[in-house]
Order: sequence, then structure tokens, then C-alpha cells
Amino acid sequence: GYKPNCKTKFGPLDDCDRIFQNLYGRHDWRLQGACERGDWHRTGDLLEQGPEWIMEQVSKSGLRGRGGAGFYAGRKWDFLRKAKSEKVPKVVIVNCAEGEPGTCKDREILRHEPHKLIEGMLLVGVAMGCGRAIVYVRNRFYNEACNLHFALEEAYHHGLVGESACGSGIKFDVMVQRGDRYLCGEETAMINCLMGKLGRPRRRPPYLTEKGYFGHPCLVINAESIAVVPSILRRGSEWWAGLGSSYNTGTKLYCLSGQVNNPCTVEEEMSIPLKDLIERHAGGVKGGWDNLAAVFPGGLSTPLLDPPTAAEVLMDFDCLVAAGSGLGCGAVIVMSKDSDPLAVMLRSIQFFEKHTCKQCTYCRDGAIWLPEIFARFVKGQTHPHEIDWTLAIADKIRNSKPICGLAYSQVSVAESLVRLFGPQIEERILKYAKGS
Ligand code: NAI
Repeated sequence: GYKPNCKTKFGPLDDCDRIFQNLYGRHDWRLQGACERGDWHRTGDLLEQGPEWIMEQVSKSGLRGRGGAGFYAGRKWDFLRKAKSEKVPKVVIVNCAEGEPGTCKDREILRHEPHKLIEGMLLVGVAMGCGRAIVYVRNRFYNEACNLHFALEEAYHHGLVGESACGSGIKFDVMVQRGDRYLCGEETAMINCLMGKLGRPRRRPPYLTEKGYFGHPCLVINAESIAVVPSILRRGSEWWAGLGSSYNTGTKLYCLSGQVNNPCTVEEEMSIPLKDLIERHAGGVKGGWDNLAAVFPGGLSTPLLDPPTAAEVLMDFDCLVAAGSGLGCGAVIVMSKDSDPLAVMLRSIQFFEKHTCKQCTYCRDGAIWLPEIFARFVKGQTHPHEIDWTLAIADKIRNSKPICGLAYSQVSVAESLVRLFGPQIEERILKYAKGS
């Protein structure tokens, strides 16, 4: 069994420590309501402290990217701050593509906390020396994009952004652009899409700080990572660093779905045990914890955890990697024993078939073969050696060094499915052979 090597008691988060006080839309999301909750409070004073101070606070807080990779924000944002750009202004791009099955946290920010996002863009943008931000919003978030536009109009009208943002003399503009492909959540695909090209990923390096949006050095940053920054600056980096564990600080939005009694999105401390999260906020697994079959801890592209590991693991980047999976964007999908695990398996693999960009040979062909094989697993209409073939295909894809992370996700999810449900596959093959 997996044994976490950090302290095991985290959460529940005190209400006063929550950043997203309007996560459930119970209050006014417009400017007046946002200001009553403390947004835009003396933002000009924060800007006056200067870019170095903002960057220093972010670095000290230990904030890690909330899109899935968990890269240290202070380090990543410093790449853009230091990038030389004499002729063209730098740009910060906010990732609200949110296509990962199981996640709906950035959508809630757009819906109910758009001012936190706009204020965050201004502070982060100015800290990195950017003159503007572009928000890439998933097309189907129509109502959410309307809220963002409305909030932006309010912010421009009150001089919070624009010619002299918050009276600082700094010009900062925000643009919203829409697009819709799962793959466009990948940063290089997103930049292509924003430039009117086909939304396909490309190899990095060069990173976006060298080859970005129409030649402008840029960075793509997840919406949640940006929206927490004003609170970090106001409450202090020590406050943020005091939550969670040493290398996984602060709070996080977790989305809990699948076979739980009360699916929800909740803000909790980093490193909270997965079991506590499910039991405290989602009303537990349907039919009780013993009815748990497996969990995707961070969205569909993070490998499945078996029940004993799920009972022990902590929700943070390092503990989940050590357990053979990942925190991803914190989208917990619970599978109970009442579902047909092989049907769920097929559905997950079909998702990758639909969304691969088909540029790399092994990933493209694997994305066709794997669902074909998994469809045979569901019926039992196959031979046990296909279980080994699945692992061999996964190995080939991984070793072919594909362009983007989607290929690696496909591989590790396929492997974890076979590892966890191998006995059920064999059982079904046997049953089919007996029946025919
Ligand atoms: P990555 O680890 O390759 O990169 C992390 C970030 O650091 C990127 O923005 C990259 O540009 C930046 N970076 C690293 N080194 C740099 C350098 N030297 N200079 C400038 N920038 C540098 O991870 P990636 O591919 O961005 O994201 C993968 C994750 O996304 C996965 O863990 C997956 O869980 C998650 N994901 C999230 C989805 C969602 O809807 N939120 C959808 C699909 C995947």
C-alpha cells in the first residue's frame, strides 16, 4: 500500500480563509457585491508596491499552477518578467478553456467571481510587465462569458482597468476571445487558435516567452492561479504558505463528481486527504466507502487510484505523483462498484480518440487501436494476450516522444485501467468463451 510521507491532517478550511466567498453564486457577482467582499480594495496601493514586490509575494507564497502541471508560479511568471521585449508588448493569456472531463472550477470563477479574475489579471500582468491580458474562454461558457464582459465593462467604467488602471498611471487592457476544442487548453494549441490558426500543439521549446502570440512574449496561466493572487497580496504570502503542506501551499478548488451523494465544487486546503474531501463535502461514495471501485483524482487524464490508495492519499501534486497519478486540476471522479468499470473504461479511452490532434503517428494510431481493443474487453470478445498488447501500445506511444501531454495522458490512463480492471477483463473473456 501507498504511504504518504507528509503530515496527514489538513482541512477543513475555516470559512474566513476561503478566497471564493461567492463560489455558489449566493451573493451579487457584480462590482458592488464584489467590492463588499473586499475585491478591488486599495488595488492601487498594491500596484504602487511595484512589480518586484508582487513577484516576491507570489514566490514566497509557494503558489503552484492550478491548471494541472503544478509548476511554481513565481518561477514561471519570472520567465516572462525577465523576457526581453523592446518592440512588442508582452501579453498574459488567461486559460479558461477548461475542457478536462470532471472539472468546472474556472467556470464557477467566471460565473460568480469575475472581478477576482480581472483584478488578478491586472496585478499579475503589471508584475510581469504586460500591457494587456487576453482571456481565452471556452465557447460553451456563453453565460459565463457574458458575466465576464459585464464585469469588464464595470471595471473599465470605474477606471479599474484601462488608460490608468486604479489611478496608477499604468495602461492595462483586457480582451476576451472564445474558442472550443479540448486540445486548445494546451497552451501552444491555444496560441495557434488565438492567432486564427488550427488549434494544434507544437513542441516546446521554444517556450511562449520566446515564441508567443504574434511574436509577443507571453504566458498562458490558469484562471484559478490568477484569481487567488489579489487575496495572497492582501492577506500576505505567509497566510497562504501557512495553509496546506510545505510544497503544496494554500487552498484549491476541487470538483467532486461521479458516484457520490452530493457532487459539488468546493474550496479546501491543499493536501486534504482524498477520503475526507469526498466524505465531508460530497456526502460520501454512493453505497458507502466499501462500494468504491476506483477514483480519477485529478480529471480524466490522471491515472485511476484503487480503493486502498484512495483511502490514504493526500490531494496534492507530490503525494499523488508518488501514488502513481496526479492532482491535475483537482477534478475528482468517483467510480462505484455499481457501475460497469469496463464500460467506463471504454468511454474514457474514446474521449482521447476524439480529441487527439493526430499529428504524431503513434499517438494517432494508438488512439484508434486502444478504443477498438477496449470495446472488445467490454464484450469479453477477445483473448487475454490483448491485455499485454494494450500495455505494449501504451509503451510505444510513450517512447515515441509525442508533441503534447494528451498522448501521455492517454497512455497512463489506459495502463491504469488495465492494471485495475485486468481481473474483470479476464473474467469477461472467460464468460464469453464459455457462452459461445
Ligand atoms: P508542463 O509541465 O509542460 O508546463 C507547465 C507550465 O510551465 C507551462 O505553462 C510551460 O510553458 C511553463 N514552463 C516550463 N518551463 C518553462 C520555461 N523554461 N520557460 C517558460 N515557461 C516554462 O505542463 P502543461 O503541458 O502545460 O500541462 C499539463 C497538465 O495539464 C497535466 O498535468 C494535466 O493534468 C493538465 N490538464 C488540464 C486540463 C484542464 O482543463 N484544466 C485539460 C488537460 C490537461
